Amino acid sequence: MNKKYRRVIIAGNWKMNMLPSQAKGFVEELKKLLPQAMRGCTAVLCVPATHISAMGSQRFRRISVGAQNVSEYDMGAHTGEISAEMLKDADVQYCIIGHSERRQFNGETDEQIRLKLRRLLDAGITPILCVGESLQQRELGLTMEHISYQVKAALASLSEEQVREVVIAYEPIWAIGTGVTASAGQAQEVCFNIRELLRKDYGALISRKVSILYGGSMNAKNCRELLSQPDIDGGLIGGASLKVSDFASIIAVGCEE
Ligand code: 13P
Repeated sequence: MNKKYRRVIIAGNWKMNMLPSQAKGFVEELKKLLPQAMRGCTAVLCVPATHISAMGSQRFRRISVGAQNVSEYDMGAHTGEISAEMLKDADVQYCIIGHSERRQFNGETDEQIRLKLRRLLDAGITPILCVGESLQQRELGLTMEHISYQVKAALASLSEEQVREVVIAYEPIWAIGTGVTASAGQAQEVCFNIRELLRKDYGALISRKVSILYGGSMNAKNCRELLSQPDIDGGLIGGASLKVSDFASIIAVGCEE
């Protein structure tokens, strides 16, 4: 799925699933199923923190390792937190921030997400910033207003060069884990609008470079239609990333020339 200006990113989000001992076997199996040529596309597995050290080693190079959260602080007395520098030292290349589950169940605010994003950029880790509307917001016609607020709040005061390093994942809350996928048209429309937002604030050059992913019940069956949309540069995949053959199929589609 060649996007010309952007890398296609197929990222799995394992959430709180899988054991470290199972993960190794999964990755070995996945490596066997990866397409020969992965030019212009990247496969990422965002795993629980306990799995990172096993995954981050040289052996798993064809699959980039991602985390699912980072502290907004740099170091010190923050029991239970993990800093961006620690992730970097453990070879993490990507990190999800602002996932709707963390916003909803852990009370994460836009300000915390903004701080986390900066920590990641400072550490040289690519942030995958999640944004998305609830069903109610969609029904009230507030989708873009909400998403535009989330994007602007997270990117506030970043330079153009920094914005270029950010990956944005559009994840409508109503499509996460529900089996209800946004139609390709709905997903494309929002991803296009996010790019327009970036173009207005940071210029055409930057907006063309930022990878925008879709997430929400993406699977081996519906991924082709979603990934072939002009402004959808990849997927953030929950449930289907836990099944090795399904995840490999999605990667294969994303990596098609
Ligand atoms: P599902 O693919 O299970 O809907 O999850 C999507 C998601 O939340 C990825 O971050």
